[in-house]
Amino acid sequence: MPPRTSIEEFRELLKSSNRVLALCGAGLSAASGLPTFRGAGGLWRNHEPTSLATPTAFKRDPALVWLFYAWRRHMALKANPNRGHYALAELAKKKDDFLCLTQNVDGLSPRAGHPEAKLKLLHGSILDNKCFNDNCDYIDRNNLSDPVCPALAPAAEDYPPGQTIPLLDPYVPAPSIKVEDLLHCPQCKTGLLRPGVVWFNEPLDKQMLADIDNWILQGPIDIMLVVGTAAVVFPAAGYTQQAIDQGAIVAVVNPDPESGEGLIDEDFFFQGDASELLPKLFEGVIGKMDEHGKIL
Ligand code: APR
Repeated sequence: MPPRTSIEEFRELLKSSNRVLALCGAGLSAASGLPTFRGAGGLWRNHEPTSLATPTAFKRDPALVWLFYAWRRHMALKANPNRGHYALAELAKKKDDFLCLTQNVDGLSPRAGHPEAKLKLLHGSILDNKCFNDNCDYIDRNNLSDPVCPALAPAAEDYPPGQTIPLLDPYVPAPSIKVEDLLHCPQCKTGLLRPGVVWFNEPLDKQMLADIDNWILQGPIDIMLVVGTAAVVFPAAGYTQQAIDQGAIVAVVNPDPESGEGLIDEDFFFQGDASELLPKLFEGVIGKMDEHGKIL
């Protein structure tokens, strides 16, 4: 039997639910104009984006890695939260026992007013800068400067629509940036600052993981919402099974039919854009939302 697709049935379930866990991914921010990772985005200047998201890449070429992140940071700061972010933030305000785990580093959920205590930034934030030295704990949170430093200005330039952005054109040489002109740590004075995101081959924050496990183990979970994620990166992808082990009914929101594979008949699959579907799915709890994400 395929999973359920009835919005009405889901609304009823959500109304009567106490403990709800959400796992979000890049698809939540797609309607804000930010490309997903495994989507059509493709290469960045002939580099596989995932090959730039490692400590080894930063050691080898910190200026190139910073250019990549300064550009993504610029895009994130230019983007606005969409109705999906607002709907989740509103649900968090309405449901006492709701926790949202996001893999997104773009800062859009915090900007939508999602209560901090009910949002775990699994992969950090692109707006934080932290020291690359292992033995230094300096972190500059929510830095909104754009460009993040003068040397990275080429990554924060806007061009008319339709015009190829020189930074993204692999045939245009990358701007030459001296390592000494990148951000340095004001605390240890030796390390370079790096984006405050979790890279491949890096562990997630231990305290955050412990807090999430504690929340999960506190009692049965009614609903596990899986929004806009390919669910292939661990440990994030493992939370769905943990919630199922706690009795959760799974509800997947994703335009890709393959993301609904593995769901059973009591689960839900809503095929489509998260920014359109989430306000509808939560309407019974949060009320009606206008096109800008305001509750009417
Ligand atoms: N609404 C909902 N889902 C969408 C939308 C949309 N408008 N557009 C695309 N999607 C779905 C895609 O079908 C896909 O399943 O969002 C998912 C995006 O998957 P990924 O690009 O793999 O992103 P994500 O799952 O967040 O990646 C996880 O991988 O590279 C790392 O650290 C990075 O946090 C990231 C992690």
